[in-house]
Amino acid sequence: MTAPKKLFIKTYGCQMNVYDSERMAEALGGEGYVPTDSPDDADMILLNTCHIREKAAEKVYSELGRYKGLKAEKPDLKIGVAGCVAQAEGEEIVRRQPMVDLVVGPQSYHRLPDLLAKAKTGARALDTDFPEEDKFEHLTARPKARRAPAAFLTVQEGCDKFCAFCVVPYTRGAEVSRPVDRVVSEARDLVERGVREITLLGQNVNAYHGVGPEGADWGLARLIRELAKIDGLERIRFTTSHPNDMDDDLIAAHGDCDKLMPYLHLPVQAGSDKILKRMNRQHTAESYLKLIERLRAARPDLHLSGDFIVGFPEETEADFQATLDLVEAVEYGSAFSFKYSTRPGTPAAERAQVPEDEKTERLQRLQSLLTRQQRALQDAMVGRDVSVLFEKPGRTDGQMVGKSEYLHAVHVTGADVAPGDLRRVRVLESGPNSLMGTVL
Ligand code: SAH
Ligand code: SF4
Ligand code: F3S
Repeated sequence: MTAPKKLFIKTYGCQMNVYDSERMAEALGGEGYVPTDSPDDADMILLNTCHIREKAAEKVYSELGRYKGLKAEKPDLKIGVAGCVAQAEGEEIVRRQPMVDLVVGPQSYHRLPDLLAKAKTGARALDTDFPEEDKFEHLTARPKARRAPAAFLTVQEGCDKFCAFCVVPYTRGAEVSRPVDRVVSEARDLVERGVREITLLGQNVNAYHGVGPEGADWGLARLIRELAKIDGLERIRFTTSHPNDMDDDLIAAHGDCDKLMPYLHLPVQAGSDKILKRMNRQHTAESYLKLIERLRAARPDLHLSGDFIVGFPEETEADFQATLDLVEAVEYGSAFSFKYSTRPGTPAAERAQVPEDEKTERLQRLQSLLTRQQRALQDAMVGRDVSVLFEKPGRTDGQMVGKSEYLHAVHVTGADVAPGDLRRVRVLESGPNSLMGTVL
């Protein structure tokens, strides 16, 4: 018997890339590849890349540079680039790094085994099509390995919103929703393999409109209610949402669907209506705040998370102040904030840019406010009881870590709990990035 070939995948970017990397590993498993944690003993290295900001995209080239020596030592080593940089830059990648054997865009992953076969003949294998066929149909797992208690499940991909700063509509293509029965059967399969929490993924997940069993389209709330019927599935989350696609049914689901967790990532990007308009966000600060009010009316303990961009072209100090005001009004449980990064081919790239030092200064101010808010909300958990889905052992002896319903990391020590257990925990302490508690 020949030794199995080893596959090293490095994943950048969003959760959808995490999901895709799992699917690619499964697809290449069918070709005899087993995963490895180190590029040094790999027969194939696959970088699953992100193009969202300049820094993210540049990382790929520095990482590829590191593999030059490996490739020289092992000429049979295959190096592939997948993900959003592959889609955005295509052949340019091979021009800059001729040692790359294979380039595959996010909509062509099911063609990976064929591309690899082509690469093995010495030909350059490149596929950045948006094919007609459904890649998900061809990306099913075999064998059915046991899974960790929390999993991602892509239900929608691509985006039709065209925010003026964003590459996603170009790298992931137009919005596509997977049919309800496919999603439900994948969810059942995950639960059979030990999963108790599923996070439904989409670049614009709340725009989900998959075809239902009777032929009509279902919205995300209806899909969630259907998934909630699966025995053994305890928790459902979804990300990422656009404020304009938060319909009445989805707001209501936060109040009446027990398995839907009280945590929502709802990016607003900025608090100034002038900037929101120039970003092509199609919502105002006020409409966003009204929406938050309605969500909190449905689920008073809802924890909110957001994304922010500072230093978007033409952002003045007053515009930035409006972002701080909005943050003050909302009180976020967690947040991600970034300096605007010009992306080639997007409308905002052509506009007058805010100086780098101003962006840096604004980001610091925003982040210190967000950190304070996050910490205050987290500290307020002390003395309260939360439900924790335990996921894995912690760093110290006898420690176990899991997630609260609000997505806090929670540690307990010396308790008789195993991964997959869902238990009530009393919060005793609040640390910098996690809570510490005792199982009740
Ligand atoms: N689909 C999601 C998020 C996509 S990307 C949504 O609609 O909100 C994740 C985050 O990256 C965005 O929310 C935005 O805050 C940030 N981002 C996107 N393009 C960016 C750019 N050019 N510069 C800086 N941040 C950016
Ligand atoms: Fe990008 Fe999200 Fe805007 Fe779509 S809605 S263009 S993914 S920021
Ligand atoms: Fe990055 Fe593509 Fe996700 S650009 S954030 S990996 S959709």
